[in-house]
Amino acid sequence: MHIPTLIERKRDGGPLSEDEVRFLIREFTEGRLPDYQMSAFAMAVYFKGMSADETTFLTLAMLDSGGKMSYPATAPRIVDKHSTGGIGDKTSLILAPLLACDEVWVPMISGRGLGITGGTLDKLESIPGFSVNVSGDEAVRQLGKIGVVMMGQTADFCPADKKLYALRDVTATVPSQPLIVASIMSKKLAESLDALVLDVKFGSGAFMKTRPEAESLGSAMQAVGGAMGVETRVLYHPMDEPLGRSVGNALEVVEAIQVLEGGGPGDLRKMTLDLAAEVSVAGRDKLEQWLDDGTARAKLDELVACQGGDPDDLKRLEEIHAAPVIREVHAPGSGQITRMDADTIGRASLALGAGRSRTGDSIDFSVGFDRLAKVGEVVKAGDVIGRIHAASASAAEEAGERVEEGFQCES
Ligand code: URA
Repeated sequence: MHIPTLIERKRDGGPLSEDEVRFLIREFTEGRLPDYQMSAFAMAVYFKGMSADETTFLTLAMLDSGGKMSYPATAPRIVDKHSTGGIGDKTSLILAPLLACDEVWVPMISGRGLGITGGTLDKLESIPGFSVNVSGDEAVRQLGKIGVVMMGQTADFCPADKKLYALRDVTATVPSQPLIVASIMSKKLAESLDALVLDVKFGSGAFMKTRPEAESLGSAMQAVGGAMGVETRVLYHPMDEPLGRSVGNALEVVEAIQVLEGGGPGDLRKMTLDLAAEVSVAGRDKLEQWLDDGTARAKLDELVACQGGDPDDLKRLEEIHAAPVIREVHAPGSGQITRMDADTIGRASLALGAGRSRTGDSIDFSVGFDRLAKVGEVVKAGDVIGRIHAASASAAEEAGERVEEGFQCES
């Protein structure tokens, strides 16, 4: 097969066969198809889309680029959740240890920052020593011990997504339904799940801008999950303002810990419980109890210890990642907040250094926002509507201007 001819066919909106899709993914994963050709292919898919059949071929080709987890016959129900990505979305950091308090195993394979959204793996790596590179054997051993593992795509599981995900992040090819379906569902199918809950977001800070687009994405993922024997539920959530009050890698871990200690922002706690309840065995009341009585928080300590970190560092993460400049942003007027735009905050966070502009870039764990005001709150001119954590005074100033652009209140 001739790679430029396949790219050309997709560029012109033509269909690819299962063999052709598998060929492209195999050549890319094994290093014979370079990034520039895969970037061109991803852009062609972005513009021309894929049929349901092609999307399934792509998902299965990416799944088969690695193996699937296998569990002992005595394993309990295997469950997970995945989000299509949003600003300040740190629910996985809470939900995975919370669900592991239940009679289930949670083998969560996540991704890094993608486009304007942050990624679970980057957030976890802000915990010193935490390793997201876990082999299949280690993952199953850890599940037997504590019921949860949080890991990245590896040579064992979804190596094709590991490479393609990193490329999409920096080539403006993220918001494509077939590419999102294949990326998410290849990882979730590799986990050999019994049940999956998908958090599909729509709005300014999501890849799907409207609810109908989100519903089309949700249905496509549910169809793939169902066809592969995974009980797949979908919840839809607006993403027009950041989730919680913090955006940025270490800052989001700090906020997730607050929820695991029974506090934290109400929207974040509620969303985590809504999602976890969909796949839990014990039910919502018990999940709430585990957040409030320290059980879920203790599970996070176990998870961190198992994956190379020191649980004591969780108590001093803000200190460990203190940004050189911390600056308040003040409300320019008085009234009820009607807008704290997620897209604007996400882009400002990238500009501060929380994300990548080239594959392999290092990121700054310390930068971002906290104490962000929420839509519906009432403020007076001069009140603090957020804090910027920046590497320099000029970066903080630029971020402050952006926050003001994304903010509106009405008296
Ligand atoms: N999450 C993923 O894992 N992949 C995507 O493409 C989007 C969100």
